[in-house]
Amino acid sequence: MKNFILMSGTGSYLPIKRISNEDISKMVDTSDEWIQKRSGIKFRHFVDKGELTSDMATKAAMKVIQNSNINSKDIDLIIVATTTPDLTFPATAVKVQKNLNINAIAFDVQAVCAGFVYALSVGVSMLKDGYGDKCLVIGADSMSKILDWKDRTTSVLFGDGAGAVLLEKIESDNSSQFNWGVLSNVIHTDGNFHDILYTDGGVGKSQTSGYIKMKGKDVFKHAVEKLSNSFIEALNKANLSTSDIDWLIPHQANQRIINAVGEKLGFNKNKIISTVYYHGNTSAASIPLALDHAINKKMVKNGDFIGLQAIGGGLSWGSSVIKYGKPTK
Ligand code: UT7
Repeated sequence: MKNFILMSGTGSYLPIKRISNEDISKMVDTSDEWIQKRSGIKFRHFVDKGELTSDMATKAAMKVIQNSNINSKDIDLIIVATTTPDLTFPATAVKVQKNLNINAIAFDVQAVCAGFVYALSVGVSMLKDGYGDKCLVIGADSMSKILDWKDRTTSVLFGDGAGAVLLEKIESDNSSQFNWGVLSNVIHTDGNFHDILYTDGGVGKSQTSGYIKMKGKDVFKHAVEKLSNSFIEALNKANLSTSDIDWLIPHQANQRIINAVGEKLGFNKNKIISTVYYHGNTSAASIPLALDHAINKKMVKNGDFIGLQAIGGGLSWGSSVIKYGKPTK
């Protein structure tokens, strides 16, 4: 018998408060033209006062439970990828578990904008290892809470949101019939670049959360190279090539990075999902938000091959190749 881990459903949540580039221009010295030209971003959503990362994560989780038509009590694992937890501890996933009123094992993964691909990799491994049959992988971040409104180079780029996927383990002795689900994961870390994207505070250093600091040009160059290379690695691991992939769902940080990676990998623009215009960079929520959007728009369909890729502070990065959905009998 062989285990396959399906990605069988999605859900997402965006805070009600939508902030345009014009709104941002009233807060820092910038313009709609600059932000759109340099990043492709037009809007982002910000949490309201009192709204927490766990609230967004819970709403995204409830959506995926509803969309997948499962009983929430059957969920064995909840993994939340976040850099902006409600509290230093306990983990944000613990609050999601309480909100859903279930008994699942719950913990957080912190790999900043790459958090979702890291959490996905952990979820797949744990299901394969026998920790259960159903896992929620949630990416949720309230980046607005760590923006420095004196720094126009970072404050214009980020937004808040949450996205979730359901992973389900199935067993089969006929692997050719069931080559569905998460086919490969690749994750990497290089701490030598810890100081090109970071916060200038934290529990140990300042007893505050600190603000985002970024050497944008350096991160840009690493992003194009590392996203492309890790995706080729993930394709090789899955024994597939770019022409097999129906949809590329890159981390939504900057339209110029998305275009450059697409060109480098030889993807037709029509096969690349982009939501950066609507959400800005939502860190760990970026991929599941874009995936849920693509499913709701009937772009990604059951049985499509999708590629996911993300990079963030660490540097941490990775890619995954998935045959999305469930085999129909
Ligand atoms: O999710 C983690 C991954 N993060 C990323 O992938 C982000 C990667 N980096 C980027 O996306 C880009 O580097 C940025 C969008 C952050 C910046 O774009 P850039 O083309 O690298 O611009 P730059 O930093 O070189 O700045 C160009 C000019 C500068 O003015 P001068 O020196 O040419 O006169 C900046 O001062 O733009 C100026 N500038 C701004 N002007 C208006 C910087 N920020 C702003 C702003 N509004 N918000």
